[in-house]
Amino acid sequence: MDDAQRRLIFALDVDSFEDARGWVEKLQGQVGAFKVGKQLFTRCGPDVVRMIRDHGVDVFLDLKYHDIPNTVAMAGLEALKLGVWMFNVHALGGAEMMAKLVEQVDKVCPRGTEGRPLLIAVTILTSSTDATLQAIGIERPVAEMVPRLAKLAQQAGMDGVVASPQEVGLIRQACGRDFAIVTPGVRPADASLDDQKRVMTPGEALRYGADYLVIGRPISAAPDPAAAAAAILAEMRGALQA
Ligand code: C5P
Repeated sequence: MDDAQRRLIFALDVDSFEDARGWVEKLQGQVGAFKVGKQLFTRCGPDVVRMIRDHGVDVFLDLKYHDIPNTVAMAGLEALKLGVWMFNVHALGGAEMMAKLVEQVDKVCPRGTEGRPLLIAVTILTSSTDATLQAIGIERPVAEMVPRLAKLAQQAGMDGVVASPQEVGLIRQACGRDFAIVTPGVRPADASLDDQKRVMTPGEALRYGADYLVIGRPISAAPDPAAAAAAILAEMRGALQA
């Protein structure tokens, strides 16, 4: 597995265990990790995570925990026991929630030890606009909230954030280089946008400072998914060497 492969996360947006296994077997030599989200997890539960781990590949558990601090910390410990490589919470849950999670994970699996997952925060969902925030009583614009929440997550000891490619620059400014940024909304230049609106190519996203790219349909909907993944990896390698 090279640097580009380690940075490519395939979004396993399917609704059956068999489909999930099929994709893992097809792409396991190419991508660094598989993202399991709410749909697949609600359908298949922890067994699907174990199946992926049994293939020897990493899992990003994308369940975006947001609850009282103790509940999030305990859920996080269960994710850790499942052996996931990365999982996430909503930064809007607050500093205390994130700090409690970090504290509990530190006890079981101190920083730098094998098997410690990357603890990632979601700042503002990319489906939210300034108007969405205003309607829930947040007067600040998205462009101000994103770096603010990223900084809060960093201060609480989180390892990084999920962000749209357009937000990477703002987050790098607020949090520096040593903070992971995971970006969906990545589309090769010749791929369909699907329902993504503000996109960047894999090369652009890396050049802007993203660390990990989450990519689903440009691979899964391609006539030859392995070839599509290979083309994305080639573009990523070009950007990483530049
Ligand atoms: O198929 P596509 O490449 O658009 O998949 C992107 C993945 O990243 C999906 O699982 C989607 O839910 C997720 N995601 C996103 N935008 C966000 C957060 C997550 O597209 N802001």
